[in-house]
Amino acid sequence: PLVTSKEMFKKAYKGGYAIGAFNVNNMEIIQGIVEAGKEENAPLILQVSAGARKYAQPVYLKKLVEAAVEYSGLPIVLHLDHGDSFEICKACVDDGFTSVMIDGSKYPFEENIALTKKVVDYAHSKGVVVEAELGRLSGIEDAVSVSERDAAFTDPDEAVEFVERTGVDSLAIAIGTSHGAYKFKGEPRLDFERLEKISSMLPNFPLVLHGASSVPQEFVEICNKYGGQIPGAKGVPEDMLRKAAEMGVCKINIDTDLRLAMTASIRKYLAENPSHFDPRQYLGPGREAIKQMVIHKMRDVLGCSGKA
Ligand code: G3H
Ligand code: 13P
Ligand code: ZN
Repeated sequence: PLVTSKEMFKKAYKGGYAIGAFNVNNMEIIQGIVEAGKEENAPLILQVSAGARKYAQPVYLKKLVEAAVEYSGLPIVLHLDHGDSFEICKACVDDGFTSVMIDGSKYPFEENIALTKKVVDYAHSKGVVVEAELGRLSGIEDAVSVSERDAAFTDPDEAVEFVERTGVDSLAIAIGTSHGAYKFKGEPRLDFERLEKISSMLPNFPLVLHGASSVPQEFVEICNKYGGQIPGAKGVPEDMLRKAAEMGVCKINIDTDLRLAMTASIRKYLAENPSHFDPRQYLGPGREAIKQMVIHKMRDVLGCSGKA
C-alpha cells in the first residue's frame, strides 16, 4: 500500500537501519528500484523533485508510483523532495503524496520555522507527514574553519528548538554531505560528533541524510571508459552511511548513484552495440543496473532488506 513513513521510521530507528529514499524520474528508474525492493522485501520511499515533476508531468509519476504499489504489494511512501514553497507542498498533499519535504534551509532560522510550521499544519490536517531541513549542505572542505562549519552545519540546540516549534516529523541535517557526484576533494569526512549530539538531544526522532550517494567508482570508470567525462567524482563511503543509520538517521537519500548506474550501463551497451537503436535494448540493461545497485544498498549498506 501507499503509506506514510511514520511506522517505517519507528521500526528503522529501533532496528538501527535506514530506509532508502530514491529519486524517480521515469518508468525504468521506478521499475529498477521496485524490483530491488521486491527481491529484498524492503520498504521503499520513492521521491519526486520539482525537476522530476517538470520533466515527466506530475500525473505520470503519480500513476507510475501507484502502479508500483499495485505491482509490488510493498509499503511505499510517495514523497516530495526539496519542496521550496508552501504551494508546491500543498499541491503534492492534495495530489495524494503521503509525505512532503519543505526545504526552508536557505532562509533565516525564524523564517524556516514559520514556513515549515505552515506546511506541517496543512499536511497534518490531511494525514501527510513532513520532512524539513536545517543547516546547509556543503562539504567539509568548503567549510574549513570551525566558524564556517558552525555556520553551515546543523546546530544541535537549534535542531531541538526547530523540531519542538514546528512539529515536523523528520529533519534533514547538514554534517558534511552534499548533492551530486563531487562531494569531497580530499579524504571523505563527516561530522559524526555533531550527528551524535543531535541524535542524543532528539531521542527517537528520525533524522534524514541528503546527498548520501556513494558514487561507486566502478560506475565512474565505466562512464569514463565509454566516452564519459566525470573525472574525480567521489561520494560518501558506504561504511559511513551504515554508521549514520545506527545513529538515528532513518532516511538516506540517493539520486546520483541511480544516475551513474543507469548511465554507465547505457554508455557501455551503446558502445558495444553500435547497430542497435531500439530504446528497450539499452533501457533494459539500464533498469537492471539500477536494480542491482539498489539491492546492494538495501542489503549491505542501509540494512532494510527483509523489513517490509
Ligand atoms: O536533491 C536533488 C535531487 O538529486 C533531485 O535532483 O532537482 O535534478 O531532480 P533534481
Ligand atoms: P545525491 O546527489 O548524493 O544522490 O543526493 C540526493 C538527494 O539528497 C536528493 O534529495
Ligand atoms: Zn537532497
